[in-house]
Amino acid sequence: MNDNIIPHNFSITQEQRSDLKKHQPLLVWFTGLSGSGKSTIANALEIKLFEQGIHTYLLDGDNVRKGLNNNLSFSVEDRTENIRRIAEVANLMIDAGLVVLASFVSPYREDRENVKRIVGYENFLEVFVNTPIEECERRDVKGLYEKARAGEIKNFTGVNAPYEAPMAPDVEIDTTMVSVEEAVALIMTQIEQRIKNK
Ligand code: PPS
Repeated sequence: MNDNIIPHNFSITQEQRSDLKKHQPLLVWFTGLSGSGKSTIANALEIKLFEQGIHTYLLDGDNVRKGLNNNLSFSVEDRTENIRRIAEVANLMIDAGLVVLASFVSPYREDRENVKRIVGYENFLEVFVNTPIEECERRDVKGLYEKARAGEIKNFTGVNAPYEAPMAPDVEIDTTMVSVEEAVALIMTQIEQRIKNK
């Protein structure tokens, strides 16, 4: 911590930005195994929100790891730093008045708790995409489970690295039981209660 950094108080407030957008900001955090369907649902949700005139931004694991976080691995420490930086970015976007959708494996409970602390509990909605690992592995869209089983990827979540499930997510979705459209509808109900269109 540098004691010589003193934040400036700017004139336009987050509240004024929300008034302009006519909705409250929110962070919708998708957590779940690789291949569970996080990005697919987040994408469909963003389309729905966009159609309703809600200003969104979608942060996604592979995309963020290609840019902002391209110096981070999948070690425990680097995943913690990955999630911390994403939370700080999401926090800036919340300050800008956006509804942010974040789709990250985020396997550690403590890292997800830290996100809540950074953005504020009132701004956080947790979606646990709880698709069984057998199904994620059967899909294996990117061929990563096969590589992990063959020992070609170390620290692969669900195979040789842990996934700590949320204790009390706001929404829980098993994509073997509900369609993408149904999942979006479930999340939309929660969002509508939280962002109170002005
Ligand atoms: S984390 O754990 O939150 O830091 O991971 P995240 O930034 O979401 O990145 C997950 C995507 O990276 C690919 N990938 C891996 N996932 C898990 N474990 C290991 N070791 C790994 N190596 C690469 C994988 O494609 C994840 O994308 P999704 O979209 O979740 O399938």
